[in-house]
Amino acid sequence: MIELEDVVKNILTTGAILTDEALERLLPGAETLPHSIHRAMRHSTFAGGKRLRPILAMEAARMLAASDDIPDGAASLGAAIEMLHTYSLIHDDLPALDNDDLRRGHPTCHVAFGEATAILAGDALQTLAFQTLAELPAPPATVVAILREVALAIGTGVGADLPGSLPPGMIGGQVMDLESGGKPPTADVVERIHRAKTGALITVSVVAGGLLGAVGTPHQASADTITRLRTFGQKAGLAFQIVDDILDMTQDSAQLGKTAGKDTATHKATWPAVYGIPQSKRDAAQFISDAFEALAPFGEGALPLKTLAQYLVDRTH
Ligand code: IPE
Ligand code: IPE
Ligand code: MG
Ligand code: MG
Ligand code: MG
Repeated sequence: MIELEDVVKNILTTGAILTDEALERLLPGAETLPHSIHRAMRHSTFAGGKRLRPILAMEAARMLAASDDIPDGAASLGAAIEMLHTYSLIHDDLPALDNDDLRRGHPTCHVAFGEATAILAGDALQTLAFQTLAELPAPPATVVAILREVALAIGTGVGADLPGSLPPGMIGGQVMDLESGGKPPTADVVERIHRAKTGALITVSVVAGGLLGAVGTPHQASADTITRLRTFGQKAGLAFQIVDDILDMTQDSAQLGKTAGKDTATHKATWPAVYGIPQSKRDAAQFISDAFEALAPFGEGALPLKTLAQYLVDRTH
């Protein structure tokens, strides 16, 4: 009998290999001039991330393509998303933001290369990500749709339901995160931060993967399909950041590969700060079950994405 644990291990291992191969192909080598920035980009990119966003993108593409293999271009899409994620981590760790010196088990980019190079390495990863997306092997309309989705997801919005606001975007979430630190957090603020700073990139990983995977299929990607993928990503993304907050309080730095206990020490607006750990665990589980529900019409084909979503909350680092 195949155990679910083996299924998730297989998805994570093969997905990380595909992501790393694509990143190796796309990132300039350490000997490319100017050396400092390319070495800094590689230092943070190849430091041992879990590659969860690229794996979500590739599995969403595979589900929509209804194929056994990861569709053409999905590994490059995943690599572009991982570049954006790595850029966000380099900047998140800077002294002006979270001021962290440990990331993925290694010194953070600014500790290893200096602050100026770290800022530029983040910028350069973002630029290379958009170049990679523009070169995806897909019809122009699909490429433009993916570019637009990704740009919005990492942008400055904090939620379309607020008057005058853009849809939630990573930078909007980071701004709210910074501005809400040190004050007693409210439930509404924490949810808004989590949806934007983390949920938006996770959501777009799934949506963009779906758009790419649907190319050339008889049904293409219907509006209903994209809405379902979006809901899945939003719920799973929220659960993911709740678990990140819980792990910060319950694991040690060696296990996490980043400094544990920072959120409490710096009075961050986290889910457990509002609800406590037991309720946070229940909420994460509920959001994952909502995420599963959104994929109901995909039947058996949704198993890899559901297995991954379950891992997002079961993980220990
Ligand atoms: C950490 O993300 C940053 C958050 C958005 C919470 P991950 O836990 O996916 O970090 P890596 O990529 O595995 O290092
Ligand atoms: C990170 O949130 C969000 C982004 C990088 C956009 P955190 O600040 O909680 O991430 P960690 O805990 O440092 O990985
Ligand atoms: Mg932060
Ligand atoms: Mg941080
Ligand atoms: Mg955190």
